[in-house]
Amino acid sequence: MLSQAMNDRLTRVSPGTPMGTLMRRYWQPIAGSSQLSEENPTKEIRLLGEELVLFRSTAGKLGLIEPSCPHRKANLSYGVPEPEGIRCAYHGWLFDEEGNCVDQPSEPAGSRFKDKVKIKAYKVEELGGIIFGYLGPEPAPLLPRWDVLTWDGVRETTIIELPCNWLQCQENSLDPLHFQWLHRYFGGYMMNRLKPAAERDAWNAITSSKGADHKKIGFDKTPYGVIKRRLVGDETEDSEFWRIGHPVLFPNILRVAHGMQFRTPIDDTHTLHVTMQFRPYKDDEERQTEVPTHLPSLYDEKGRIRADGVLPQDQLAWVIQGPISDRTTEHLGVTDVGIILYRRMLDEQARVVEEGGEPLNIHRDPTANEIVILPCEYFPYPGYEGTGGPFKDQPVKEPDVMAILSGDGVDRNEFQEAPKMSGAERYSFK
Ligand code: FES
Ligand SMILES: [Fe+2]
Repeated sequence: MLSQAMNDRLTRVSPGTPMGTLMRRYWQPIAGSSQLSEENPTKEIRLLGEELVLFRSTAGKLGLIEPSCPHRKANLSYGVPEPEGIRCAYHGWLFDEEGNCVDQPSEPAGSRFKDKVKIKAYKVEELGGIIFGYLGPEPAPLLPRWDVLTWDGVRETTIIELPCNWLQCQENSLDPLHFQWLHRYFGGYMMNRLKPAAERDAWNAITSSKGADHKKIGFDKTPYGVIKRRLVGDETEDSEFWRIGHPVLFPNILRVAHGMQFRTPIDDTHTLHVTMQFRPYKDDEERQTEVPTHLPSLYDEKGRIRADGVLPQDQLAWVIQGPISDRTTEHLGVTDVGIILYRRMLDEQARVVEEGGEPLNIHRDPTANEIVILPCEYFPYPGYEGTGGPFKDQPVKEPDVMAILSGDGVDRNEFQEAPKMSGAERYSFK
């Protein structure tokens, strides 16, 4: 349970708020690269409570600027892209990606008026098919070159706007137990109704293995955030799920299986959820020229939140906690130790920034940032046989924070009949 003041401190993201100030120290994904094309060169963006316009000039440069033209306030998302920037639809003032007014075509010849006009502009970079924006103070840190964003391979991006606060999405990543209930039990309940027999059985086989009864959950603090680990069913501590685990990247990213999930705060009650899936090229496979961006609906044809997959079920759980979960009336159990750890980290790191320091997981060394390779269980690393890559032989270690759970679940026939799967097979979700 949190006080109202602490719930506000950890969730609110507008300019000047503690979490809004902390979040502005990090690059945030705002769109898929393929969403800014010749046909759609501009996009209205709401990020951390600020209204902005993202554009791509005809020379290919990206800009992220305030939306309102300083002449007579026309919205620049209706502007026309040119090589130098974007030209306002109303009277043709032209702005470059740094917010400079570089042309006012109808002012008298020789006028220097345009030199006095500048609009707010933020830094933008692209990596791995995703466009990132940085709204914080200078000097901007490096955009972290996380392994799956950097390696040669096939990527695809899925973006959805969720009507809930970002922290609900992120807390789910510190809550391994939910797999047993949300994906195995509720997911099985829904899939048994929604899907034909073969798909339903495949679902139950995977979730009954990965979502087997949880015995232990553990968390370690790392320079990037937290590693989470779980021990389920009759597995031993030698399992990669326990020895290696997978990382939660501070403050609002999950790295799991074959990709990443970014929880970009749009404002206090909306989140842009950006998922990137990666796989290495197969032999002789044609090289990808563009990373596709999928924009699925949150809702099904009946207007209910979809539940037909792992990510839709996660989204459902986050949204049904409400626009901002009321943590003043929650009741945390032993299963929530990871969430308690993470809230403390957020509070501490917000304080670091308040006191003038640099928070966790900021990257400034270009050599170390050529590629940042992360530990992830049952992940096939390029250049390595099998799974686990450079972390394969990592020994068993006691976690920084751990909880022993009862391991109790609910018996359902379909789970008992489902075949047992290896760790790598459990990651065969699409
Ligand atoms: S309102 Fe933009 S140029 Fe006039
Ligand atoms: Fe989940």
